[in-house]
Amino acid sequence: MTERELVISKIREGTVIDHINAGKALLVLKILGIDEKTRETVSLAMNVPSRKMGKKDIVKVEGLFISEEKLNKIALIAPNATINLVREYRIEKKFKVKPPEVVRGILKCPNRMCISNAREPVESIFYISLKGNEVVAKCHYCGRKISDLAKFII
Ligand SMILES: Nc1ncnc2c1ncn2[C@@H]1O[C@H](COP(=O)(O)OP(=O)(O)OP(=O)(O)O)[C@@H](O)[C@H]1O
Ligand SMILES: [Mg+2]
Ligand SMILES: [Zn+2]
Repeated sequence: MTERELVISKIREGTVIDHINAGKALLVLKILGIDEKTRETVSLAMNVPSRKMGKKDIVKVEGLFISEEKLNKIALIAPNATINLVREYRIEKKFKVKPPEVVRGILKCPNRMCISNAREPVESIFYISLKGNEVVAKCHYCGRKISDLAKFII
């Protein structure tokens, strides 16, 4: 090991979220509900060089296994992310997130006139598609199209 190398300790059990679109790691932590109160070991890397992506972010959390709902949210802002489940220091399972075709109650429509924002709100429904590397969503009720979905996650 040279003076220029840095080692981040491996996690024994938990999740490595790899191939996060560069710059989105903090949003991923927010979705996971990880903040200054967290007691688990968390490592985060931003703008790491990546062969596949140019630059990427990585998040590693000891003791965490992510719910389906949170995986769906992560897929909306980091559609290339790979989830690695770690047990006894080894990757036991690896899969890519997949943005769902339809999301209910996850995104808020920015159209103030939309029926989903009425005084007695109906659950929002959005249809999801991929435009290259970007995830776009279309409101079921008013047809409004949105991208940069982090801003609209409820
Ligand atoms: N025990 C561990 N604790 C923390 N991070 C780990 C652990 N084991 C593997 N990782 C990290 O998980 C990620 C995926 O590991 P893997 O060995 O599958 O690499 P890879 O072959 O580059 O994977 P991919 O093909 O998905 O890019 C890497 O960022 C690696 O550093
Ligand atoms: Mg790799
Ligand atoms: Zn709408």
